[in-house]
Amino acid sequence: MKILAIESSCDETAAAVVEDGKVVLSNSVFSQIAIHQKTGGVVPEVAAREHLKKIIPVIDNALKEAKTTLKQIDALAVTQGPGLISSLIIGTTTASALSYFLDKPLIPVNHISGHLYSAFLEQEEISYPLMVLTVSGGHNEIVKISDHFKFSLLGETLDDAAGEAFDKVARMLGLSYPGGPVISKKAISGDKNAFNFPIALRQKNNLNFSFSGLKTAVLYEIKNFVSENNIKSKSELPDEFISNISASFQETVVDTLLYKLKNALNQNPDCKEIHIVGGVSANQRLREKAKQQFPNLKIRFPAKMSYCTDNAAMIAAAAYYKYLANPQRIKTLNQNNVLPSSSLNLS
Ligand code: KG4
Ligand code: ZN
Repeated sequence: MKILAIESSCDETAAAVVEDGKVVLSNSVFSQIAIHQKTGGVVPEVAAREHLKKIIPVIDNALKEAKTTLKQIDALAVTQGPGLISSLIIGTTTASALSYFLDKPLIPVNHISGHLYSAFLEQEEISYPLMVLTVSGGHNEIVKISDHFKFSLLGETLDDAAGEAFDKVARMLGLSYPGGPVISKKAISGDKNAFNFPIALRQKNNLNFSFSGLKTAVLYEIKNFVSENNIKSKSELPDEFISNISASFQETVVDTLLYKLKNALNQNPDCKEIHIVGGVSANQRLREKAKQQFPNLKIRFPAKMSYCTDNAAMIAAAAYYKYLANPQRIKTLNQNNVLPSSSLNLS
């Protein structure tokens, strides 16, 4: 089954063609990062205008790369939400129009469900039940998947997601957007024990995350350093200080994520695999420490870095497993008019 999927929930305009939820025939992404770097974050109005410019070229690109015509597509899929409403509208309207004119089913997909299936792409023999840690800029969850599209949400962030904390700390240090890659680069030469930041919500039965306290703790360290050293602007912060803050902050985020994951696995010993997905799963320290901490469990990360950050291939994969969970349902989805949704309901 060939699915053409569209993703436009935040600042990537993306389209992909994926066969049977696994074989990626194309994965086309137009990233708006360069545009949002000027403002240090995503301005929704600007993002929507860029989606509008790129959505047709990106779909065209995905079809060409997959050597597939619209007629050869079995179904369409689109990210319905959550995300920036003005960005989502571009994707859902385009997908609805295509579905109507082609008379092909359109499968709406929750963005987080997309991330949940991103480590299924290009991989063999995945066995349920499995535990997934999603770590992105906009979301942070622990989800158990017991069968196709059967999710139990075990924990989520009560405030910021880990990626958002990376982005905000980078901003405090005068580093560029997005913060994750640049902080992890600076952390390589830093001392992870230079600052002692605590893990929030340490109770064993609490699988929720909170990163706002960590962000504030970092802010106070920066403020103290600035006043003690009579620093006038962020550009005067010495490299050694930036590296040490970056390493200590990154280590606390990684330890927090893995501490929660370990507790979730202790409570669910039937899980056969761990998947770590979302933009922050690109983080090398997280990958390295996860492998050390769970030597006896199969750990999967998305097969390519481009499947970690927002992309449409993962939306196609999720749509396929949504279809497998209830094949009858797809027959009722013809000419579907999918509206954007802010619902957090994964299914
Ligand atoms: O999944 P994603 O593309 O978008 C959302 O759905 O939010 O994730 C983007 C997030 C950003 O916050 C970015 O700073 C973070 O992923 N990120 C990283 C790394 N690469 C991207 N965080 C830590 N380490 C990285 N190497
Ligand atoms: Zn995402």
